[in-house]
Amino acid sequence: MSQTSATPVTRLAVLLSGRGSNFMALQAAIENGDFPAQIVLVLSDRPGAAGLDAARQLGLTTVALPRRDEPSRRDHEAKILAALAEARTEWVCLAGFMRVLSASFVAHYPRRIVNIHPSLLPAFPGLEAQAQAIEHGVKVSGCTVHLVDAGMDSGPIVVQRTVVVEDSDTAAELAERILEEEHQAYPEAMSRLLSVPWRVVGRRVFFAPKKKL
Ligand code: GAR
Repeated sequence: MSQTSATPVTRLAVLLSGRGSNFMALQAAIENGDFPAQIVLVLSDRPGAAGLDAARQLGLTTVALPRRDEPSRRDHEAKILAALAEARTEWVCLAGFMRVLSASFVAHYPRRIVNIHPSLLPAFPGLEAQAQAIEHGVKVSGCTVHLVDAGMDSGPIVVQRTVVVEDSDTAAELAERILEEEHQAYPEAMSRLLSVPWRVVGRRVFFAPKKKL
């Protein structure tokens, strides 16, 4: 999709704690014109996160806010909110951000915070979702992009993609194949959320059907 000057460009902040491959997938999709957005801030709770380095190399604004520097979770979240506000953030994408956000934080961006998780939620929330899937013996796993509420890896589902679990899979092998799907799913979800009218009914996200030409 090509953008014109009339297309409103959504200001996204990405929160991450590690490698940042989902952040890079979002940035690549934006550069490709897949959806009209710009990443105005990449913020991490871990100053050494590889994703922060990658963002700096792209010339993006970055901020590191370690939790240990703040006396409480509330103070930490207040600092994050201040950084988001300073960047005039409209939407927040959690991309491997390993902290659960409080209800009051989420209320600052109602239905404008999105997360990706490496399982077919509601199965296997939390840490090491891929190892949980193997241990449980599921034959299919995958990834989920969802709107964030105050729970952990909960909130209305936007996009899911599946991956077959092979008998020989280690958690790392399964994680690698799921990650490939994550890199498709996150841009797809953002593209739909920012380009198509949608509404939430109960836990269900409904997108308006495509108009016939
Ligand atoms: C991804 O697999 C993401 O789904 C997961 O962390 C990884 C981050 O990788 N997130 C969660 O488990 C959230 N509960 P990345 O830094 O390369 O994007």
